[in-house]
Amino acid sequence: MFKPDLLSGHKILVTGGGTGLGKSMSEAYAAHGAEVVIWGRRGAVLEETAAEIREKTGGTVSDMAVDIRNAGAIDEAMQAIFDAGPLTGLVNNAAGNFISRTEDLSANAFNAIASIVAHGTFNTTVAAGKRWIAGGHKGNIISIVTTWVWTGGPFTVPSAMSKAGINAMTQSLAVEWGPKGIRANAIAPGPFPTKGAWERLMPAPLAAKTGAGTGAGSIPLRRMGEHQELANLALFLMSDQCEYLTGACIPIDGGQWLASGGNFHALTNLDGGDWDMINAAIRSTNAA
Ligand code: HXC
Repeated sequence: MFKPDLLSGHKILVTGGGTGLGKSMSEAYAAHGAEVVIWGRRGAVLEETAAEIREKTGGTVSDMAVDIRNAGAIDEAMQAIFDAGPLTGLVNNAAGNFISRTEDLSANAFNAIASIVAHGTFNTTVAAGKRWIAGGHKGNIISIVTTWVWTGGPFTVPSAMSKAGINAMTQSLAVEWGPKGIRANAIAPGPFPTKGAWERLMPAPLAAKTGAGTGAGSIPLRRMGEHQELANLALFLMSDQCEYLTGACIPIDGGQWLASGGNFHALTNLDGGDWDMINAAIRSTNAA
């Protein structure tokens, strides 16, 4: 779809680049000539992904084990990247989420999500942005959010609040940093199956109970998204051919949020026993 050298000369950091959508976007960037750096919590997973992408694309991919819940680690790793040459783009992709009744969430449970999604994204963005500004470099930020930024996210309140905050950050920085040559946009993907999200948002007992996650009846385009389709949008937004687009949040969800909210409102029908089963299934994933 795009020229193979679309991103030649670009250097892009993808947080959460070791798995899922982050991995797919990283591969697309590397395949189109960008130098890619991936961050994630698990060093071994990152190393394997970086090697796999290098092998597949012949591109330049490096990995750094950085937990974005740690602001100090972010700043140190960002400095190391810029010491070798400035980034041109940042993809805020790392996230954490699980479904739960909100009344069951402790302060710690809220922090488990917000420390990654809200705090981690803010700290990573500022770590890149302040270096772009100090060096007089252009920059480009893409943040992965969800359509819950418009609808709210029943049963995923910490994620919905944090992602809505990222959307507010995107709009704010598009204006504040625009005159400095820094763009900021967001992508709101709908159902693109990934292991990390599906295990925590559609655990087996819930899928069995509702049949949800197995079909695509609530999606006007009647299918799940393919990772390459998200990667295509992430490529376009990152490219030099897209330099007038900033402050946008673009849904890519087959029309799901307009038709049916794209969130977990249907879970209001579950009872306490259902939630006990769901909770146990998700917690076993966290421990794994
Ligand atoms: C209620 C729960 C819970 C559950 C954990 N907690 N699971 N509370 N229901 N199911 C509580 C715990 O009791 C604890 O609080 C606190 O949360 C932290 O628990 P930990 O087990 O220590 O969690 P932690 O190790 O921090 O891991 C949580 C996590 C993990 C970070 C969210 O799931 C993870 O690593 N996720 C990364 C991958 C991921 O989630 N990907 C999906 C992203 S999808 P107490 O009070 O007991 O100490 C996404 C948007 C998708 O973001 C949009 C799709 C449309």
